[in-house]
Amino acid sequence: MATALPSDYNKALYTPLAEADPEVQSIIDDETWRQFSGLELIASENLTSLATMEANGSILTNKYSEGLPGARYYGGNEHIDRLERLCQQRALKAFNLDPAVWGVNVQPYSGSTANFATFTALLQPQDRIMGLGLPSGGHLTHGYYTAKKKISASSIYFQSFPYQVDTKTGLLDYEGLHKNADLFKPRMLITGGSAYPRDWDYKRLSETAKSQQAYLMSDIAHISGLVAAQVQNNPFEYCDIVTTTTHKTLRGPRAGLIFFRKDKDPEVEGKINAAVFPACQGGPHNNTIAGIAVALKQAADPAFKEYAAQVIKNSQTMGKRLIEHGYKLQTDGSENHLLLVDLRPIGLTGSKIEELADLCGVTVNKNAVVGDTSALTPGGYRLGTSALTSRSMKEEEMLKVADFLHRMTQIALEIQGKVGKKLVDFKKAAHTHEGVKQLKKEVEAFATSFPLPGVRDTSSIKRPSGANGHA
Ligand SMILES: Cc1ncc(COP(=O)(O)O)c(C=O)c1O
Repeated sequence: MATALPSDYNKALYTPLAEADPEVQSIIDDETWRQFSGLELIASENLTSLATMEANGSILTNKYSEGLPGARYYGGNEHIDRLERLCQQRALKAFNLDPAVWGVNVQPYSGSTANFATFTALLQPQDRIMGLGLPSGGHLTHGYYTAKKKISASSIYFQSFPYQVDTKTGLLDYEGLHKNADLFKPRMLITGGSAYPRDWDYKRLSETAKSQQAYLMSDIAHISGLVAAQVQNNPFEYCDIVTTTTHKTLRGPRAGLIFFRKDKDPEVEGKINAAVFPACQGGPHNNTIAGIAVALKQAADPAFKEYAAQVIKNSQTMGKRLIEHGYKLQTDGSENHLLLVDLRPIGLTGSKIEELADLCGVTVNKNAVVGDTSALTPGGYRLGTSALTSRSMKEEEMLKVADFLHRMTQIALEIQGKVGKKLVDFKKAAHTHEGVKQLKKEVEAFATSFPLPGVRDTSSIKRPSGANGHA
């Protein structure tokens, strides 16, 4: 027989969200509608599964488990130990790794903390690191600083000297990197980025790292799903450390992983584990670890290979269509899930496209393109196909989405032609433009004809009333 629900001060602990907190529920409903009715083209996002969300929203959130399986600072962890071990096994399996050669820490709260924990484990303060520069498509956490300010902790606590892409081709300048590494002598060479549309030559990078006796770390946050599916080069063949987020192409909850090669250096495992906890983090988020485990099981399934291959086909199809429409893509195409559109040849900025896209129900982000002089007004925007592929869209739909993007850009040019280049004037005019309203309607009709991961019955998704629904 079920225990009776309390009617005292604990009553609220049993009330469903919609009843307990209509305000938060309505924000979730509005966001669900936005994801359903719009086109998600942010390259760092994806749409996770129902099972992952169930695990992530589970009762596991209650448990403290500082430490590692079998060595915790709290009691009551027998099931959490099973969970973390399962997640570790699945992580190694998803990336085809031999447990005698590789280990993994599944506790990082995010990609940024996974990276900082890695630096904490293997470097001394003020050691030298080299990562792809942010304006070249690298990530903040790989040592980003500006002339006036050290922006990322990775540049505050370490000496950072970025490498770049070639200013003509937009491709990685491996030779320049090798030469600079010879001068700078990094302790760690970091590969991986957030806006690089091409695959990485890990063999070549390992030659540079070896020549300096530096660690080779690869941050595969963006492409980890594609690496797991073996549709990208394999960083594990050459790297000492591989970090990733779990919520991008890997399609899990928001978190990070650190893989470390343990056969060459028996101390690395202890160093990484101690850097995650207690050096950089406290108790693991066990609900998230459960979500990662679920996502990794899916990533090891043959269906995920098909998904990952489709992500790339989709980005290449979208890229080709954009080129047909006359746009310049950085590196003239893509080998992964993302595209960088260079708007400078047509005299637009990324900020304007991002703004206008939002009004049309299309989500993209402004992004620096190679040779940009101002970080404040990036000359391009970034697109990614992971989320739309999770909504079961294929090549045919990518053509349609590219056509939407083209129409949007033409509207942006028309508005700019009328009101001039100032973003405030552009925004004002865009809000009342008839073409924008029409495009939003068409985007919505198109997007809502596709499923939304995690929602079994999309007829349950309600259009918000009033301003949020743009009805
Ligand atoms: C390459 C790379 N590394 C790390 C991160 C940081 O991940 P998080 O936002 O989970 O901290 C990102 C996020 O976009 C990324 O693109």
